[in-house]
Amino acid sequence: MARRRRAAARYPGGIPRLKFPREAPSRSTLKLDEAFQVLLTEAERNALLRPGASAVDLGAAPGGWTYQLVARQMRVTAIDNGRVDAGLMASGLVTHLREDGFRYRPPKPVDWLVCDMVEKPGRVAELVARWFAQGLVPGSGVQPQAADEATLRGMDPGIAGTEGVDRQGLHGAGAPALS
Ligand SMILES: C[S@@+](CC[C@H](N)C(=O)[O-])C[C@H]1O[C@@H](n2cnc3c(N)ncnc32)[C@H](O)[C@@H]1O
Repeated sequence: MARRRRAAARYPGGIPRLKFPREAPSRSTLKLDEAFQVLLTEAERNALLRPGASAVDLGAAPGGWTYQLVARQMRVTAIDNGRVDAGLMASGLVTHLREDGFRYRPPKPVDWLVCDMVEKPGRVAELVARWFAQGLVPGSGVQPQAADEATLRGMDPGIAGTEGVDRQGLHGAGAPALS
């Protein structure tokens, strides 16, 4: 809430006017850019979106969100059956895997998870909660309280994953390494 109030004070109407970077492969890039601008302070952006940090981008094609991470010299595993922009691949910072984003798990924990798969918001929220519960991304102040494996196992996906979370209108989820 406090962050949203700060954002409203910082930007006219609470909406930052962001410039579309011409070399980005999709306009979706602005969604993640806006999230970084609104949800993180400058100090957090500098500390958390640092060169060399690792990230997984679920539903990455054509690469608008991956672009934001690569622009910060982060290493990105881009998960999508679709094609990822050739310029991004040429950066040497992107590994593209044609895998199902709901099944993919990284071999070791990563600093960031971002997800823009077009799916039921509840299903995406549950997936992100599982990544937290499995220790695949660092804990965060926004970590769902129920995100432990035992609780998740007991969840009926139709109830826990959809009704409870859909009401909050979540779509597209990021799991920053806030401590
Ligand atoms: C809105 S687009 C993502 C746009 C991307 N964030 C960007 O900035 O360019 C949604 C993507 O999710 C992918 N997708 C949907 N379901 C998926 C799944 N189960 N596994 C991996 N990718 C999936 C689609 O192929 C599509 O490319």
